Amino acid sequence: MRSKIVAGNWKMNTLVSEGVELASSINRFFSDNKLAPNVKIILGVPFTHIDACVKSVDYTKISVAAQNCSQYEKGAYTGEVAVDMIKSLGAQYIIVGHSERRQIFGETDAIIAQKLANCHKNAIFPILCCGETADERDDGSYFDVVKNQLIASLCLTDQFNILRTVVAYEPVWAIGTGKTASPDQAQEMHKYIRKIIAEIFTQNIADQISILYGGSVKPDNAVELFSQDDIDGGLIGGASLKKEDFIKIYQAI
Ligand code: 13P
Repeated sequence: MRSKIVAGNWKMNTLVSEGVELASSINRFFSDNKLAPNVKIILGVPFTHIDACVKSVDYTKISVAAQNCSQYEKGAYTGEVAVDMIKSLGAQYIIVGHSERRQIFGETDAIIAQKLANCHKNAIFPILCCGETADERDDGSYFDVVKNQLIASLCLTDQFNILRTVVAYEPVWAIGTGKTASPDQAQEMHKYIRKIIAEIFTQNIADQISILYGGSVKPDNAVELFSQDDIDGGLIGGASLKKEDFIKIYQAI
């Protein structure tokens, strides 16, 4: 049975003290309440917060993720952060290929493929993001766009490592806009992503991969989204910055 995952992506928000308070209050909830079986909670925090957040949570219930990593392993890359540095702080996941990284920082599928390979080499789980823009949704090319992103970004990933990878479908037009993909639109794409993974690898592998939906997930739309067959949880932006909303979204799974 594939895991259900509720992951927050805090993006570039909170000071370290505020992030620790948020992580600690989420942790308090899970000390007082049993974590549902087969559900994983992940907090995607800024690099500067990883150490303090790892120390603020019970790692058997809550994992910490970085939001990016370098495609390089080490060396003269001023300002970059390598996967083994992230791992050494106790983070267990890294969000890779978020659309904000693709669009604002020019990340290509080739760079993303290398980042995934670095994650796998260091036994850290990447959360691979994919998704189409509003124009690509409107012109009908969205299936091809997502297919091409998956094929190109998974070109260095083998059958062993794809099982150590989470996929997140995040339509760019739904991120931070308050516009959510309808449950039918999201399910249609998640089913398609699973089909593409089956074509690249095997159906058995595709059936084991957790595919998360991201894009304006809120407490009031989470139940319907998470009830879809191929939606295994969410990657939550804005609503993950409010403990109450994040917990309500967890309770929807
Ligand atoms: P919002 O939930 O704020 O739309 O952000 C989604 C996202 O980008 C998560 O990675």
